[in-house]
Amino acid sequence: MNSSSAAVLEEFPDIIFAYGYSDEYSFVFKKTSRFYQRRASKILSLVASFFAAVYVAKWKEFFPQKKLEYAPSFTSKVVSCASVEVLQAYLAWRQLDCHANNQYDTCFWMLVKSGKSISEAQEVLKDTQKQQKNELLFQNFGINYKTLPELFRQGSCLFKKKVDETVKHDENGNPVKRLRRKAVFVHSENISGINFWNEQPSLYNDLGHFTKDIGKIEPDFIRLFQFENKLLPLTWAVVRIDGCHFHRFSDVHEFEKPNDEQALKLMNSCAVAVLKEFENIHFAYGVSDEYSFVLKKESELYKRQSSKIISAVTSFFTSTYVLQWGEFFPHKELKYPPSFDGRAVCYPTYNILLDYLAWRQVDCHINNQYNTCFWMLVKSGKTKTQSQDYLKGTQTREKNELLSRQFGIEYNSLPQIFRMGSSVFRLKEAVAVENGVVSGKKLEGEVALDHCNIIERCFWEEHPHILNY
Ligand code: GTP
Ligand code: MG
Repeated sequence: MNSSSAAVLEEFPDIIFAYGYSDEYSFVFKKTSRFYQRRASKILSLVASFFAAVYVAKWKEFFPQKKLEYAPSFTSKVVSCASVEVLQAYLAWRQLDCHANNQYDTCFWMLVKSGKSISEAQEVLKDTQKQQKNELLFQNFGINYKTLPELFRQGSCLFKKKVDETVKHDENGNPVKRLRRKAVFVHSENISGINFWNEQPSLYNDLGHFTKDIGKIEPDFIRLFQFENKLLPLTWAVVRIDGCHFHRFSDVHEFEKPNDEQALKLMNSCAVAVLKEFENIHFAYGVSDEYSFVLKKESELYKRQSSKIISAVTSFFTSTYVLQWGEFFPHKELKYPPSFDGRAVCYPTYNILLDYLAWRQVDCHINNQYNTCFWMLVKSGKTKTQSQDYLKGTQTREKNELLSRQFGIEYNSLPQIFRMGSSVFRLKEAVAVENGVVSGKKLEGEVALDHCNIIERCFWEEHPHILNY
């Protein structure tokens, strides 16, 4: 977790401070950040996505003997702190949680290890205060809670500090040192205390000074921290994820232009995994570096809390992408962890939802036809600018003629996966198992992948069960 958060700090320079324990991490952006125009869904999804990607990529470093059994996911949310006092209260709240949880868990697991059942251990700890737990640990197990590792009791902070670093050695072998800003981990007892905070220039310069220590955290503040935006009830919610800077990612990994079949298959495999993981998602459509996931109208996934839905889907997709990379590219190293951003839009009627999906497939057609022509022209010796000029203002028919005349390519005979994009949906069980009508398209389990025309209504009329309409 700490190593992944260090990578996040490196990736997003606007993050000034991070605090984490157990399976959570908070990242504090500077007040003046213009990162993605401060759009909450972009920021929360990107951070969760990148974190998940790094987590999977680094797994082996920390567990060389353990296989990562499945793709982890992380939920995230943006908490806006209107003043430095609110930020201070937020940090105090998280660290109090760390203290309380760790003390409880330490007692609980000592009791279980000593032979108590789970319910007996819970009963012993019910309504106990901090002091009582400390006494229990000391008297029953000889453990002085205060001497347990700070990493467990206090969690970890990460921020940039000026440190003296040896950059080289001079001709006499003496170290030459320079003052550098470097991210360091600190396990401070009280991260919301003025003693800790006001001694770190990188913290008070970008985030502000703390004026006094706080005792009790205002309940209003806690309510604010727990506030969640919800998706409109009884509407179709579509979570669309899109690869971040995939132009570069595709270049670095030498994807074939304009379409890399393996890359598309990897995207599709991740989408299939998403449908298997989230049973509220009934349909997905993907093209290039994007995928749209349709949640059924009645979905109560995460009580319709939009941040949780967006981040869970995006981070799960990303960690699956990293986990499965080797299966699709056995001879290509993943050079750096990819990330995806996500957003959710609600569609109130069935027809508008189908319009949305048709729009994505129209986009697939237009882009794919353009890109096919463009890269054929480039491969035939034209420069990129010449190819762009050549294609400017051309219509579908002209592009098809160009491909056919100059390159002997019948556009409509190109692989469907390129022309149509990919649709993922659950098969109607009876149909798939009993009469094998769609057996050619059947995948393991009940999730199917197809490259069908979703613009025409006939697909939807033939598969009314998909959107349950
Ligand atoms: P942002 O999404 O704004 O971060 O930028 P982006 O670079 O990801 O571009 P965008 O999402 O608009 O477009 C996706 C890009 O991914 C394309 O422009 C291609 O450069 C690249 N890409 C997607 N699929 C393929 C592929 O199969 N082959 C190759 N060579 N590139 C691909
Ligand atoms: Mg993209």
